[in-house]
Amino acid sequence: MKIISVVGARPNFMKIAPFIREITHYNKNHSNYNNYLLDHILVHTGQHYDDRMSKSFFKALDIPEANINLGIGSGSHAYQVGTTMIEFEKVLEKEKPDWIVVLGDVNSTLACSVTAKKQNVKVCHIEAGLRSNDMTMPEEINRLVTDRLSDLLLTPDEISVKNLLNEGVDKRKIKFVGNIMIDTLEANRKKAEALNIPEIIESNLFKDGSYNRNYNNIDEFVLMTLHRPSNVDDKSLLMPIIDLLTSEIADQLPIIWPVHPRAKKQLENFGLWEQLRNHKNVFLLEPLGYIEMLKLNINARVMLTDSGGLQEECNVLNTPCLTLRWNTERPVTLRENGGVSVLVGNDINLIKREFYNVMKNKYKARVPEFWDGQTAGRCLKSIIEYKQ
Ligand code: UD1
Repeated sequence: MKIISVVGARPNFMKIAPFIREITHYNKNHSNYNNYLLDHILVHTGQHYDDRMSKSFFKALDIPEANINLGIGSGSHAYQVGTTMIEFEKVLEKEKPDWIVVLGDVNSTLACSVTAKKQNVKVCHIEAGLRSNDMTMPEEINRLVTDRLSDLLLTPDEISVKNLLNEGVDKRKIKFVGNIMIDTLEANRKKAEALNIPEIIESNLFKDGSYNRNYNNIDEFVLMTLHRPSNVDDKSLLMPIIDLLTSEIADQLPIIWPVHPRAKKQLENFGLWEQLRNHKNVFLLEPLGYIEMLKLNINARVMLTDSGGLQEECNVLNTPCLTLRWNTERPVTLRENGGVSVLVGNDINLIKREFYNVMKNKYKARVPEFWDGQTAGRCLKSIIEYKQ
């Protein structure tokens, strides 16, 4: 059986690592049955291309170098999807796989699943069934189209199974396998725990943000990330958040913020970068490697983020998470469902109120079923045992 797995952007890399490990493991254990070895090809679309957004993850997570890199890079959504389709079609024509495996909800996921389906290649979607019901999110469109086309939909939780059934997906196509990202978290937890926070800060501070800072005694801190267009592309929404951070939150606790390239660009465009940089308790870092970020998450007092993946990781690490969005495709992480995440959108008063609430009150997360570090095995088994 020939499988092509596709990765494109940062949140894909931690999900593919355990899947590839599982394929290697399978082939080792089936080497006596040559006719049933899995032939695996890894395609990187190149949507994320910086060392810090891509290469560092391959290295830290032991992902073999991609067999094929499509070199797509930045651009509008139509550009990214269109050029990925054109290039991926050539790969399919040459390689003629039985399956393609796509992950998550990035532009590469959408582009490759559409291209594969048009070539009659079976599509397996890992992390199927998540829904924010917000059609202004590019990721929601990517999720809907990919799930509509997929032959095998592997879901991280039971809510996602229900979403798919409600949309009329044939239940034989759906398998509840758990959260593959947690495989990577568990595989790297010990390594992360051994890291040293001042060293992480020292080696990742933006050169222009590093003067006169004392970070040797930081033990309690807020961990912050922001990258969604809905938060960072609109000055009237971003400015009040930055004001809140610099006029109140950073006076309570140091803020460590690994800055996504899109957020950095917009903070500079809107003249907000200096305001952050000048606060002595704000530490602006380059995008971090997986294990460094995991270490910070393990130790953070509070997370402020608009990332879906971090919401999930907080749930396993029991880090209170203020989610700077008005909806989530991952309701299983919400406090009302036993998780640690609270939706605070961009309402400054709500962010403040929840910040002081989680500083005062402890919440204990319930880890969802099958978020146990063993999901990749269930994914591969579902593909191998697939019956039309
Ligand atoms: C993408 C995903 C999003 C995911 C996020 C995580 C889509 C629609 N969005 O958003 O779901 O949560 O990745 O990181 O696929 N850039 C660099 N270096 C890089 C990559 C990007 O500088 O390696 C810059 C580019 O200038 C670009 C901007 O960052 O303009 C945004 O990159 P883009 O690929 O459009 O998507 P993300 O916002 O990162």
